[in-house]
Amino acid sequence: MTAPSDTTAQERDAKSSYVSPEGRILEMVARGTSLSRVLDGLCRLVEEQAPGVLVSILLLDGDRLRHGGAPSLPKAYTDAIDGAVIGPTAGSCGTAAYRAQQVIVADIATDPLWADYRDLALPHGLRACWSTPIFSPDGAVIATLAMYFREPRSPSPRDQRIVEQITHLAGIAIQRKRDEDKLRDSEDQWRAVFENNPIMSFVVDVAGIVVSANPRGAEQLGYTVDELIGRSLLDLFYEADREAAQTHVAACFEPLGHGRSWELRKVRKDGTFVYVRETARAIRRTGREPVVLVVCEDISERKRAEDALHRAQAELAHVTRLTTLGQLAASIAHEVNQPLAAIVADANASLNWLAAAKPELERVRETLVAIATDGHRAADVIQRIRQLATKTEPGKAQLDVNDVVRDVVGLVRAEVARYEITLTLESASPLPSVVGDRIQLQQVVLNLVMNAIEAMASVTGRPRKLVIRSERHDDDVVRVAVHDTGVGLQASDVDRVFSAFFTTKPGGMGMGLSISRSIIEAHGGRLWAAPNEPHGAIFQFSLPVA
Ligand SMILES: Nc1ncnc2c1ncn2[C@@H]1O[C@H](COP(=O)(O)OP(=O)(O)OP(=O)(O)O)[C@@H](O)[C@H]1O
Ligand SMILES: [Mg+2]
Repeated sequence: MTAPSDTTAQERDAKSSYVSPEGRILEMVARGTSLSRVLDGLCRLVEEQAPGVLVSILLLDGDRLRHGGAPSLPKAYTDAIDGAVIGPTAGSCGTAAYRAQQVIVADIATDPLWADYRDLALPHGLRACWSTPIFSPDGAVIATLAMYFREPRSPSPRDQRIVEQITHLAGIAIQRKRDEDKLRDSEDQWRAVFENNPIMSFVVDVAGIVVSANPRGAEQLGYTVDELIGRSLLDLFYEADREAAQTHVAACFEPLGHGRSWELRKVRKDGTFVYVRETARAIRRTGREPVVLVVCEDISERKRAEDALHRAQAELAHVTRLTTLGQLAASIAHEVNQPLAAIVADANASLNWLAAAKPELERVRETLVAIATDGHRAADVIQRIRQLATKTEPGKAQLDVNDVVRDVVGLVRAEVARYEITLTLESASPLPSVVGDRIQLQQVVLNLVMNAIEAMASVTGRPRKLVIRSERHDDDVVRVAVHDTGVGLQASDVDRVFSAFFTTKPGGMGMGLSISRSIIEAHGGRLWAAPNEPHGAIFQFSLPVA
């Protein structure tokens, strides 16, 4: 057997070793090795395969070639050509990059392409230079690979094979590096945006664990970013709000991508709480579980202002209730006086029947029942007035608006009679319950009824009719409408009458409707006005069915 010739041995080695050096280079890329080391590695790979060759890789930057890798070429030479402009006669590399084609210069000393660079190369003993462009996957030249020799020389088919394989590999490595750099730049940029953002932000995983938080977000709760990472988001909420927070965050994951927001309380490290409005959305991540990005706004100030406003409104409502009661004093006195007068008359009659020679006990018994009824009637009126006059925290309960209407009618009966108004109740029964504060709703109905009475007080020449109608409407609301045949409303006043201090009455405050509307809206309902036909006005409100 004859030993294989040098060339075939080399060729076989070259073939068998290409797989693993290639893997080595790709491994370097994957490990995040710097591009210049990867390119040096590629150059060496060629130099190992073809003895006597000096390899350089130049990176194309606009129309200039920048040093990429050249572990064996003299530094003075690589420095000299760093930044060379590409062109039709710019040595081997500049021309190859310009033409996007391989350029073989077998003898630098004589080839016209080297006219401008010859004096740089020859003193270093460089005589031949073959340069091959390296392409990105989309076909753009991104670099060149040059093979230099110290004697004039043309490539063999084997040389060309090496070039082909290495330029392919270099293309992958450079492109991969560039993509990574781009990604890192963009990641850095987004991280900076996240970290420097004055808006508090958190990222939470499927298990509700904080995976990142920005310094502003951590600071708001009195923690450092590191203290927050790894904690359960739920622990950061006020205990009573945790269940709601959990439901909201869980809902972000299905379906993914739907934004949600909520207003809840969070607890600071020092135990105090803060009202937040948070907006969150789940973000898909390739190959990983989705996460939820939560953006948080401190609304404590707003909540405090809202609370103060509610308190002020309640105060005002109370004051105006007292004012209305003041206006009603005469009527109420009459309303209480009537049963009292009846009681006295009945009691006297009973005394007489008892004093008779033959006491009429049956009549006395009947009269005592009437006395008890009248007593209850008077007590009821007083009870209602006390309710309206006391200052109580608004509370919510299930109630029937027909009862509310009846309470009010009991207070205004004397006013109605005084102005010779015909009052008709058109109460749908049964009526679904609503959830509300009984006193506040009484105040609304009382305001509307008093306005209606006042609007009719001056009307002459037509019947004064007051109709209070209650009904279920559209399945989900209960509607109460107060119809009158009073002076009526100008179309332009239909909205204006609800403004605070709008009044056309000499002694009016102009607060009745404005307070009534805020009460109804706080109950989730609506209050509005419309002209009645042919005369008068209709004021009506709707409340959601409980
Ligand atoms: N049923 C109605 N018909 C015609 N105009 C009305 C009616 N109800 C209210 N208005 C008009 O709306 C204005 C505002 O009513 P609102 O109840 O807010 O205040 P007010 O009745 O004037 O005073 P108060 O604060 O004592 O109730 C009234 O002055 C009146 O001009
Ligand atoms: Mg009024």
